[in-house]
Amino acid sequence: MRSAIYPGSFDPVTLGHWDLIKRAAKLVDRLVVAVLHNPSKSAAFSVEERVAMLEELTAALPRVEVTSFNGLLVDFAKVQEAQVIVRGVRAFSDFEYEFQMALMNRKLAPDLETVFLMPKENYSAVSSRLVREIGSMGGNLSDLVPEILRTRIADRLRR
Ligand code: PNS
Repeated sequence: MRSAIYPGSFDPVTLGHWDLIKRAAKLVDRLVVAVLHNPSKSAAFSVEERVAMLEELTAALPRVEVTSFNGLLVDFAKVQEAQVIVRGVRAFSDFEYEFQMALMNRKLAPDLETVFLMPKENYSAVSSRLVREIGSMGGNLSDLVPEILRTRIADRLRR
């Protein structure tokens, strides 16, 4: 069975993430969407809220599981028996950071492959950081976050 991990902060999940989840789920038997517990980064949504939103979003995709993880991604991938890490690259500006992370993960776990997928062009400029900023100022989040989560995300960010 081919399993992949799609790790990230997902604070909150965007349409770009959602597009990537659907693309990645078509390529593997099992896709584990994994939210990082990162105590050093202050987040808008708790890990539990992020996991719950992702679970709701992916409920109709039987190959997709959602969970959270602590520590090194390569260790989590081993526990999950995943062979692949999936990451999204929206633009060239993402590449340097992603390339560095992929090479470092390869050093730590030579058999684990990182695969980059491109989200739909419409989502090239969409990021969780901009969603948080726009949402906190009461801006329109349509075309940025999944419709079924929009009100919840907007209400929360406005507070
Ligand atoms: O959505 P993000 O914040 O860009 O995701 C970053 C993430 C979670 C993929 C990355 O920070 C990560 O893998 N963290 C786990 C700790 C780890 O393995 N660090 C070494 C990376 S080379």
